[in-house]
Amino acid sequence: MSMNLKGAVLALAAAASLAAPFAAQAALKTLDGKAPLVIAHRGASGYLPEHTLGGYELAIKMGADYIEPDLQLTKDGQLVAMHDTSLARTTNVEQVLGQRNGGYRVGDYTLAEIKTLTVNPSGGLSSTTYPGFNPSAAEPYRVPTFQEVIDFTKQQSALAGREIGIYPEVKTAGLEIETKVLDTLVANGYKTGDKVFIQSFNASSIQNINTRQTQLGYDFQLVVLGSANAIGTLGLANIAQYADGVGVSIGSAGMGESFIAAAHAANLKVHGYTFSKFDDTANAQYLEWYGYGIDGVFSNYTDKALAARTEFLAAQVPEPGTWAMFGLGIAGLAVFARRRQQAAA
Ligand code: G3P
Ligand code: CA
Repeated sequence: MSMNLKGAVLALAAAASLAAPFAAQAALKTLDGKAPLVIAHRGASGYLPEHTLGGYELAIKMGADYIEPDLQLTKDGQLVAMHDTSLARTTNVEQVLGQRNGGYRVGDYTLAEIKTLTVNPSGGLSSTTYPGFNPSAAEPYRVPTFQEVIDFTKQQSALAGREIGIYPEVKTAGLEIETKVLDTLVANGYKTGDKVFIQSFNASSIQNINTRQTQLGYDFQLVVLGSANAIGTLGLANIAQYADGVGVSIGSAGMGESFIAAAHAANLKVHGYTFSKFDDTANAQYLEWYGYGIDGVFSNYTDKALAARTEFLAAQVPEPGTWAMFGLGIAGLAVFARRRQQAAA
């Protein structure tokens, strides 16, 4: 090997070694070694009315990786973003429309009727406004359809210059809703590999969606939700046959670092719900779970989840083996420099 070639090889090795610590910084305990995802749980639900375009937009402006619409079917078969099966907790249905069949079930009202409602703040620091934020939607606190959420997400992705992921949840089991959720994504041009997760507490729903998407030639990432116990009963290896991850209550018995490691061993991602703290203890909670290798957090406070993630990533140090590589790289550079000097002398 010529002197120049040797030098080039050494320089390349050195450059690779110099870069190694930074690569190691990204090699985290998550299943894919990447930074944990911040999923805007019901939008920026800690600050603004949940499952509204206004709330999703604030979360996106804060930097959320994904927004999470929970989905229900209206009386006329339209998918709307709504957590509860009832309209009572989050909207003014009582005043505007009154009861149907003795209650306020989403499925007892048409989309046109639901569109007359306003979504109210509920829980946490939620309010009708957020300092410095002016929602761009004409009616930011109405109940949006899934189609409107998708349109808004795509528009916001174009504005932000980054792909904002979508993480719909099939809230009530049934072939109609399962089919509509999947087919709506397909009709909107989402492709395998796009930032999409489909979730459900009902494992059968996820199995049905998996069957249908396979028939259609798609492979969106699927997530089964539940407590650590419920997931354990289903069996991680079994879930891994048809899903890509599990969404697990961080408050459930058995959920923690060992559970995450076991899920990873079964090739399943773990997304934890719900990160709802807004006091001084919130940051430490995120840091703890990021340290466990959790793959994503469903958070009501996207800004807090992201601030903690930034702190967590900055604190990661290269492993000893990487430092050795780093040292070898420096030594290689020194040898190369000395030989260049000798050759020039
Ligand atoms: O979907 C994850 C998490 O959102 C589950 O809780 O009840 O808020 O939908 P929930
Ligand atoms: Ca949800």
